[in-house]
Amino acid sequence: MKHLFLTTSVLATCLASATQAGVIEERKAKFKENVAILRAIQTQIGKGDFEAIAAGGRNIADWAIKMPDFFPEGSESAGALDAIWIDFDDFQSKAVANKEAALQLEQAARTKDAGQIMAAVQKLSGTCKSCHRSFKSN
Ligand code: HEC
Repeated sequence: MKHLFLTTSVLATCLASATQAGVIEERKAKFKENVAILRAIQTQIGKGDFEAIAAGGRNIADWAIKMPDFFPEGSESAGALDAIWIDFDDFQSKAVANKEAALQLEQAARTKDAGQIMAAVQKLSGTCKSCHRSFKSN
């Protein structure tokens, strides 16, 4: 009976870490998508594809809203510093700043003005870096 209990709890632990591995892979994929969105903007300005820029801003904002849910307790990784779970409020507020800057990019895209768009991109990148400085290793 004791043996059966042990087997069950080992299995439960394995399942829990498999779930954490999933959440880590998913968040990394979303962050990579952010980079691709930002990189595409210069070309999109050239083509006058302001709809795509607005959609990109919206996409980054949507991810920023969900981001804290992708950092549950116990989802430590090589890239995520423990500071995230020591000061989760600060982590969340940096995600909110990221969301707001992404929504400003969406607004800037609607002006179809390259200068305003690039200024919004600059500001948005600042909010990525600000979080990375405190909460991402390397
Ligand atoms: C609120 C905090 C926060 C914000 C805002 C944020 N990041 Fe990150 N980012 C992280 C953390 C933490 C990791 C490490 C995740 C891991 O490795 O588990 C990360 C990882 C990454 C990675 C590496 C992904 C990989 O494959 O290892 C890239 C690229 C990245 N972020 C880009 C961005 C960009 C671009 C933005 C802004 C549009 C952004 N991030 C906004 C916290 C943030």
